[in-house]
Amino acid sequence: MAAGIDDISIYIPRLFMDAGDFAEARGLDPQKLVKGLGVSKMAIVDSNQDPACLAANACLKIMQKNKLSPEQIGRLYVATESSFDESKAMNSYVIGMLEQVYGAGSFQHCGGIECKFACVSGSYALYDNTNWIRAGESEEKYALVVVSDIAKYDLGSSGEMTQGGGAVAMLLNDSPRLLEFDPKVTSTSIKNEYDFYRPFGKETPIVHGQYSNLLYLIQVKNALNDYKRKALKTGLIDMKEGQSMLDHIDYFNMHLPYSNMGKKALAYLVRHELRNTPKWKEVIAEVGMEEPVPKDPRGTIESIIADSEFMTKDSEFTKRFAKTNTYQEIYENKVASSLIASKSIGNLYTASLYLGFRSCLEYEFQKGVNLEGKRFGFASYGSGSSAMVFSGVIKPEHLSIVKEMNLETEIGERQKLSLEDYEELHENKLEPNQSLLSARKEFVLEHVENISSDKRGERRYAFIE
Ligand code: CAA
Repeated sequence: MAAGIDDISIYIPRLFMDAGDFAEARGLDPQKLVKGLGVSKMAIVDSNQDPACLAANACLKIMQKNKLSPEQIGRLYVATESSFDESKAMNSYVIGMLEQVYGAGSFQHCGGIECKFACVSGSYALYDNTNWIRAGESEEKYALVVVSDIAKYDLGSSGEMTQGGGAVAMLLNDSPRLLEFDPKVTSTSIKNEYDFYRPFGKETPIVHGQYSNLLYLIQVKNALNDYKRKALKTGLIDMKEGQSMLDHIDYFNMHLPYSNMGKKALAYLVRHELRNTPKWKEVIAEVGMEEPVPKDPRGTIESIIADSEFMTKDSEFTKRFAKTNTYQEIYENKVASSLIASKSIGNLYTASLYLGFRSCLEYEFQKGVNLEGKRFGFASYGSGSSAMVFSGVIKPEHLSIVKEMNLETEIGERQKLSLEDYEELHENKLEPNQSLLSARKEFVLEHVENISSDKRGERRYAFIE
């Protein structure tokens, strides 16, 4: 049975921190953010917003847009790494909010769980719900998968320049209008790692930034290798002599902790794909140096990190490779459009891959590209660490949805934060009733109980007309 994404909606907080102001405040060259990382604005949540109300707002948008009633939603899954409760799933909060609009008990039938595996959990949630539909369990109802996160790092840390926040809701069914997932090729890679993690009770993560970047690349490459094996085995792809995956995947959507990571990750995968093709000789001539080879051919994270000579040469090779015409052409055609939204929103953790997908649809459509039948490859990465690679094909009906997409209108009018306001919000100095913006047709957090011990942690939300 077919299954895939029928529609997608986003909810992005309207406050933002400007990269230039941020760089000035931290004594950084603004070009490090804008050119080096591809960050021009970071969406920041107001004092009356948390990841649950971001998620509920994205769900409400997709339901209203498609005129859906709760009975038409069979499952609701929430994937997040910004959880605020160790036991109660974020689903309950989201359903509680939606029932304020649709009526008490209207979602009673709609089971689901909160999923956690850093930024990759949304992809696991999509995969599980796709299989629920494929198994014929859905009784023609939709699955609603919502990915919602607030990427927040310590003040003054190197992660602080890669913050953001927002939610993406995806409607899945057996006759999707946007994208149908390819069957039997989804592939994963997993390893116990400490590249980025958030121990109990800590609001911000502990991050080993450069290590996390390298792990991302290696894990995605491992998952891609397995995807390729499955794609050949199932006959999804018929690889002719001299071809690579690049001849079979039209667009790559990468996890985007910051926009330029998509460019870096694609360069890594493209090298891997082209290395054994006849084209490689030409590429090496363009790069102007031989590709460095690690001392330990297994290429594990430990062996690569220990090989400092290789690391230095490889970084030089990557920089030169990224400038070649060969790579620039692949970059422009296969990934560039997916990176645009991230530049002005920032990291959304679980949601960033799907914001990238949304961005690719909107900006390729604006370029006049006919997307029908194009295969999208997805490279999802979550620290800790796991990668998932999967793919799908764009359906003819996508046009009715994509032609209406407009990122700016969908976000609404945004307000730039002063450094003082940003830091106050960051340090949780403002109460929910001290929000900087007035809510408009959206859910907001009203109160978190922190006095009464038998109600501690209880959250109250309201829908503001
Ligand atoms: N002008 C132009 N470019 C500049 C520049 C300047 N003045 N100064 C630096 N740059 C460039 C650098 O050359 C570098 O480019 P390359 O990546 O092409 O080499 C880029 O800007 C970034 O510079 P640094 O590598 O020196 O940056 P950093 O080490 O200070 O911090 C970071 C970067 C590690 C990503 C940090 O922001 C961080 O820790 N972020 C959080 C963790 C993270 O996002 N990890 C990503 C993988 S893990 C994951 O994906 C899960 C997740 O969502 C968190």
